[in-house]
Amino acid sequence: MKMEFPPWFLWGTATSAYQVEGGNYASDWWEWERRPGTPCAEPSGDACDHYHLYPQDLRLLASLGFNTYRFSIEWSRVEPEQDDYSRASLEHYRRVLEASHQHGLTPIVTFHHFTNPRWFTRSGGWERPDAPDRFARYCEVAARHLGDLIPIACTINEPNMPALLGYADALFPPGRNDHAARLRVTDAFLRGHLLARDVIKNETASTRVGLALSMADWHVVDEGSEQLEAIRRLREDVFLDGTAGDDFIGVNTYTRHRVGPAGFLPPETGVEVTLLGYEFYPQSLEATIRRAATTTALPVIVTENGIGTDDDARRIAFVEGALGGVHRCLTDGIDVQGYCYWSTFDNFEWNYGYIPTFGLIAVDRRTQVRSPKPSAAWLGRVARRGVLEPYLGSATSS
Ligand code: BGC
Repeated sequence: MKMEFPPWFLWGTATSAYQVEGGNYASDWWEWERRPGTPCAEPSGDACDHYHLYPQDLRLLASLGFNTYRFSIEWSRVEPEQDDYSRASLEHYRRVLEASHQHGLTPIVTFHHFTNPRWFTRSGGWERPDAPDRFARYCEVAARHLGDLIPIACTINEPNMPALLGYADALFPPGRNDHAARLRVTDAFLRGHLLARDVIKNETASTRVGLALSMADWHVVDEGSEQLEAIRRLREDVFLDGTAGDDFIGVNTYTRHRVGPAGFLPPETGVEVTLLGYEFYPQSLEATIRRAATTTALPVIVTENGIGTDDDARRIAFVEGALGGVHRCLTDGIDVQGYCYWSTFDNFEWNYGYIPTFGLIAVDRRTQVRSPKPSAAWLGRVARRGVLEPYLGSATSS
């Protein structure tokens, strides 16, 4: 069936600074990925050298057919030492924003995507009593310099994930397993979001501000509903509640979770799983959009949806399934304003290193040569035409 999307729909791809720029020496992740004993497969190094190659990257995205580009500003470049702001870094991001606009790519700018400056993490990170204020101060400086070029801003990407992965699972810095700390940090992120939203809007009232939340479709198994509610409350609901007064809610969705009376259950035997071991479950996006829209009553932007796979035909099948759900939401009158595929490139996937390939565009890390995959041509064509048709096995960008 042919599905038509509205002409104003935002069709984008997404990156985060640390995962693509390379050379983010002042970031806490640079230290973390080198520290003995941390669960990191390999260091990020030059990543995709997007810091230098952004002009050709933006040109490529526009030529593929996209009209939106979501990327993040690296706090540790803008404020490499406390209160020491780098005008050169701010100018760099201004050039990225200008190039986005020149190429007809609406920028969606994230101010915090998992990484912090080293000085911040070394001095207590999000447990510092003044953490939300420190973060908001950086946002204020960045918004003053860049805000006129930012139509849409996400204050914090998935605050629920560093709270979980850094303070319960010990997979992200600071590598803790401390429930009380996780709760404190959750509050700090929520406060940081509100302060950041206010300072950004104070600098440029026209910038629409929200946050991007990691959301899954939740399935109860047997008598697991109490467990599910408890897990979801801390993973999603407190953050959804924290978006009151925002301009939109950013939804990041990859899979579904199954929860029984004893907690999380693995995917059922025999189901298809992705390179990260998640269940291949594109239907999850429709469920999370509906839940986000109902719970918050805000417009929704899909700020991330994607799949880590080395089979590009499965990537197309995944996105096709997910977009079908987006279209059903639109048909039902839900205000879904855009879809950003994660990720633009095969990039640095945090503690997994470069193995899980989420990208529409492959990158040879020795030569930095970019090679768009068939999925890039296919999704770019959907974006350019605003029409989703069943994929018949070949993709061209025309
Ligand atoms: C994050 C990305 C990450 C992606 C795939 C999201 O949770 O925002 O940084 O690469 O998931 O795992």
